[in-house]
Amino acid sequence: MRFQNKGVVVTGAGGGIGRETALEFAAEGAKVVVSDIDPITAERTTKEIVEQGGQAQAFTLDTTDPEAVAAGFAAFESWLGDLDILVNNAGIREITPVIELTYEEWCHVINVNLTGVWLCSQTFVKRLLATDRPGAIVNLASTLGVVAAPNRPAYTASKHAVVGLTKQMALEFGEKGIRINAVGPGVTRTAMTAHYFEDPEITASIRSIHAMNRWAEVDEIARAILFLASDDASFITGTTLIVDGGWTTGKKM
Ligand SMILES: NC(=O)c1ccc[n+]([C@@H]2O[C@H](COP(=O)([O-])OP(=O)(O)OC[C@H]3O[C@@H](n4cnc5c(N)ncnc54)[C@H](O)[C@@H]3O)[C@@H](O)[C@H]2O)c1
Repeated sequence: MRFQNKGVVVTGAGGGIGRETALEFAAEGAKVVVSDIDPITAERTTKEIVEQGGQAQAFTLDTTDPEAVAAGFAAFESWLGDLDILVNNAGIREITPVIELTYEEWCHVINVNLTGVWLCSQTFVKRLLATDRPGAIVNLASTLGVVAAPNRPAYTASKHAVVGLTKQMALEFGEKGIRINAVGPGVTRTAMTAHYFEDPEITASIRSIHAMNRWAEVDEIARAILFLASDDASFITGTTLIVDGGWTTGKKM
């Protein structure tokens, strides 16, 4: 039990990687804030955790809304007691060529994937500093935080920026015992990617870009997130752990 009674906040925990991460933290003893913009899915994940004997509470939070984030973290802290770990998981993705991307679409993706990560991280760190406590943040970057792929301009820009913000914050708060890292998943089967698997050509292409000739399941990403949040990673900060079955190692010939 690496996280016995630790106070953990997971954003976007209603589904996909966030849901699995919340379940795995709870299974290792954590008290988990299951936050999502969608109240129904947040409640669903929370119910699953509680039914398995874990500790969780659902909170509705849009990570891009500064006032809601301030109020949300105050509410999280009241329920948790102490804040220890934040997983900035909430994210969205467009599939649009650069030339066709609208200003609104650009702003939406950048707001959720970058501004939301910054807002939640700043609020979390302020609360740790106020109580002189150590802590850990794990951000969801992507392989598209280190390489590009067609038709994902705002997503790729936002995830590269998350890698940069991770380094920046690690540098600033290392002395305070606050570690900030990121995980960069390859294609992982979730609602975000479900449509890939409806088309055999896209499925084959997904296989071919990963050296391991497959995609990830959510537990393979959650395990990396828990590692970076745990004391096993006590001297790791500012890094992005790429979990991509070899996608970014190079191109097959
Ligand atoms: N699935 C992949 O292949 C993959 C690969 C690399 C990185 N990632 C990243 O992992 C994270 C999780 O992705 P996923 O595949 O589980 O996605 P998902 O779509 O299954 O889940 C994302 C969750 O975030 C929530 N959300 C969206 N906007 C929000 C907001 N403004 N405030 C709060 N919650 C919000 C959604 O309601 C949803 O529950 C994202 O940051 C994504 O970019 C995913």
